[in-house]
Amino acid sequence: MSSPRPKIHVAGPILPAAEAVLREDFEIVDTPSGVDGILAMVTTPVDAAYLAAAGPQLRVVANCAVGVNNIDLAAARAVGVVVTNTPDVLTFATAELAVTLMLSLLRRVTEGDRQIRRREPWQFALGFMLGTSLKGRTVGIIGAGRIGLETARLVEAFGARAILSRRDERLDALLGAADVVSLHCPLTPETHHLMGAAALARMRRTAVLVNTARGPIVDEQALVHALRDGLIAGAALDVYEFEPEIADGLRDCENVVLSPHLGSATTATREAMCMMAVDSLKHVLLDGTLPPNVVA
Ligand code: GLV
Repeated sequence: MSSPRPKIHVAGPILPAAEAVLREDFEIVDTPSGVDGILAMVTTPVDAAYLAAAGPQLRVVANCAVGVNNIDLAAARAVGVVVTNTPDVLTFATAELAVTLMLSLLRRVTEGDRQIRRREPWQFALGFMLGTSLKGRTVGIIGAGRIGLETARLVEAFGARAILSRRDERLDALLGAADVVSLHCPLTPETHHLMGAAALARMRRTAVLVNTARGPIVDEQALVHALRDGLIAGAALDVYEFEPEIADGLRDCENVVLSPHLGSATTATREAMCMMAVDSLKHVLLDGTLPPNVVA
């Protein structure tokens, strides 16, 4: 008789192709209690209580994201649970979205789209809705990891100059020099509210902030004040401090572009992320090996 298939809890819907592969080797169950592995979403808070409720047989949490701020890694280590993430496969898509947001903001695309949808009269005119190009601008990249470096490469292709800083190293110099400040660092206790009132005030008044990393890296109330007081010229956000809540003040600003956490949201990228998470579960639960993408 074959041994029972390991039990997996999938914390949110995954793409059908990956689910089919998962079902070949695993039994999918509705709750995390009593499972061998968990396929977690970025929205799944995996803390000590969650791990305890899952039970001592739990061996692996495969996070379907590169960021692992939703997981208490120390708590996982303490109970010997392996944690994996999905690096590399989403690097280009996320960097591409950062550049998409920059361009939408600088060239006022979503602002113009809103005006048209409001059926406001408009007409071509030489001075109408003028923006700025990325070409010739300085883009300050906070977080010189895979996604930050890819964003630097892309903005350089648009003729911008990229300057990089890891966390708070050279942060003041970057904030004073950048026309665009783009966040690519992980959310940790050190980067929580990294862009608060003081950092926002150090930005140039003509500069814009782009966040495709994690919402709480920005103090959203301070950002609303900085936008209202004209301390910075605009913001483009894909992630939010209290996601999926969005501070009202942000909705009211024309010089703000908002997208709903779409960094890695292409079909090919999401499929690759799901497959990597499934592969990680197979490594640990079927082969008894650690995949290269272990974070704890
Ligand atoms: C998504 O937000 C990720 O971290 O992959």
